[in-house]
Amino acid sequence: VYDAIRTAILSGRLQAGERLPATRRLANELGVSRMTVAEAYDQLQAEGYIRGRQGSGTYVAPSLPVGGLSEDTPSRAAPTAVAPRLSTWGRRVASTPAEPAQTVRPLYDFRPNRVAPDRFSWDAWRASVERALTQDRSHLLVYPPTGGHPELRLAIAEHVARYRSVRCLPEQVVIVSGTQMALNLLAQLCLDEGDPVAVEDPGYPAARLSLEARGLRLARIPVDDEGIRTDALAVSGPHRLVHVTPSHQDPTGVTLSLSRRLALLEVAVATGCLIVEDDYDSEFRYEGRPVESLQGLDRHGHVVYAGTFSKSLLPGLRIGFLVLPPALIEPFLRAKALWDGGTAMLEQAALAQFIRSGEYERHIRRMRRLYRRRRDALVAALEHHFGAAVTIGARHGGLSVLVTLDLPEHDDVLAARAAAHGVELRPASRYWSHLPERPTFLLGFAGVPEEAIRAGVERLSRILRQPGMSQ
Ligand SMILES: Cc1ncc(COP(=O)(O)O)c(C=O)c1O
Repeated sequence: VYDAIRTAILSGRLQAGERLPATRRLANELGVSRMTVAEAYDQLQAEGYIRGRQGSGTYVAPSLPVGGLSEDTPSRAAPTAVAPRLSTWGRRVASTPAEPAQTVRPLYDFRPNRVAPDRFSWDAWRASVERALTQDRSHLLVYPPTGGHPELRLAIAEHVARYRSVRCLPEQVVIVSGTQMALNLLAQLCLDEGDPVAVEDPGYPAARLSLEARGLRLARIPVDDEGIRTDALAVSGPHRLVHVTPSHQDPTGVTLSLSRRLALLEVAVATGCLIVEDDYDSEFRYEGRPVESLQGLDRHGHVVYAGTFSKSLLPGLRIGFLVLPPALIEPFLRAKALWDGGTAMLEQAALAQFIRSGEYERHIRRMRRLYRRRRDALVAALEHHFGAAVTIGARHGGLSVLVTLDLPEHDDVLAARAAAHGVELRPASRYWSHLPERPTFLLGFAGVPEEAIRAGVERLSRILRQPGMSQ
């Protein structure tokens, strides 16, 4: 009632001085209680839209309240008239492609950024949050230390030293709210507009898009079955920064060979560039020995190691970390203090408890076994239903596989058709600088139980092989 009258006044349908119906009559017409109408009138009167005259009814105020003069939309709708001016960066960001909005919940969700919600140790996590709240809450009373919760920095330093051969002191570990934020801040801190940087081709779109948005000059370096082609990198340079995914190249899944790792470090020494080692899902390796981190081989302080809990634990936590070369610690901490004033402490304290109690390691071990079974189920189902029409990329680790199908249509078209039938996929052509010859998808298996994997792939093969099929 309030909104309708207010909108009518603001749009001029009700004119200044016009009389409003009596509350009893309007209540009868609308089929609401008289009290409801009286409350709406009271509110409109308090805001200056209407005036009541003792004994003679209620009228639209002769002049409108300040602030509502040109409004012609209902009060709770977002105003659309004035677009604020954006910076150059803002305009670049505004033109980056957004993930398509999802209208229905998919029956089968094969997108690669999912984890297994059915098997997460919620009880252990709850206990860690509770312990953080009872034993460690003093951190919440003050602004957080910029580098992160001291216990968490220590726990991470020990963990990456043990499992990833990262060489670091706890002071080098800085907690961030995910790799994405860390990469943006690093670029802001270390690079000027127009500086040359290199990324993998195919490569992680989110990293490329944030570097492009900063106005950097991007070289896209080809990847083969040993990872990034360091010969191509050397001739295309020098670069100021190189973003790589050595453990599990995103999206091909290949591991950067030892000789290429050494060559990459040589390029860094020769040109003075910074290497961002994005180690986003190395916790999950199903065959073969994990290869030592690039950071562990670096003797000159060129590598920034980036880790995240988005794959190993929960993407919604938004906790990641950098291991910085000593010379970058202080500048990065100052930049981060200006940027976000520190990262939320309750989750950090809980995560420190979770790691310290051994739950994190148990969780990784359990998930590794589960994800390996899900990967096997996906590979078997794809081979069964697509036969010779499917090529499956490296599959020894991570939470997704790259899948190429021998079909004539574009991956976006096929993904849209699959989505319309309840199967969600990520088209992978956006990872490449050129269109792959055949439609390619990055299929995540971590969040889908084995039975559903089989049913989902069966459905997918029916949808994709028959253009225009109905549900
Ligand atoms: C290459 C790469 N890096 C990092 C991440 C995780 O980023 P964040 O820590 O911002 O969640 C992903 C997630 O998909 C990824 O594919």
